[in-house]
Amino acid sequence: MYETIQVLHSYWAYLVLIILIIAVVNAIAKSVSGKEYSPKDFRISLFTLIVSHIQLLIGFILYFVSPRFAAFSELGMGGVMKDAVNRLYLVEHPLINIIVVALITIGYSKHKKKLTSAPKLKTIAIFYTIALVLLVSRIPWSAWLG
Ligand code: HEM
Repeated sequence: MYETIQVLHSYWAYLVLIILIIAVVNAIAKSVSGKEYSPKDFRISLFTLIVSHIQLLIGFILYFVSPRFAAFSELGMGGVMKDAVNRLYLVEHPLINIIVVALITIGYSKHKKKLTSAPKLKTIAIFYTIALVLLVSRIPWSAWLG
């Protein structure tokens, strides 16, 4: 169970990262060049929303089935916070990524309500860029790619 979820979360992360980068580059490029908002832009932002929500669900399950979770009972909250690796996996990564998915969700629904191209693209560009920066700041890179 744990291994399967861990592998799924690890591979799904590529999809999240790739689609979020595409959405950010696309929204910024179109904003800057003053292009019209098209159905393709809508599909990219929706796909990013769906893919990131699925990763959030996989992450929640992983959190409770991971052997790392036992650190809370072994070390206590203070002990977890004192250790950089435990703090990253059990506190920072999950919390920051909940914020990341919230930002994507807010950005998506705000952009949908705007009626013209420029504010639609700008909303996606701002919210998704902040989400991307936060996301890459709390990925356990060495465990993932190492
Ligand atoms: C939504 C965006 C997220 C992305 C892109 C993401 C990505 C990743 C990556 C790349 C790893 C390292 C995998 C590896 O070692 O091969 C990881 C580990 C982990 N993630 Fe996430 N994650 C996300 C959200 C979450 C959330 C919301 C939670 C929990 C509520 C979570 C819980 C965990 C846990 C517990 C691990 C460590 C698993 C272990 O080694 O036992 N993740 N994540």
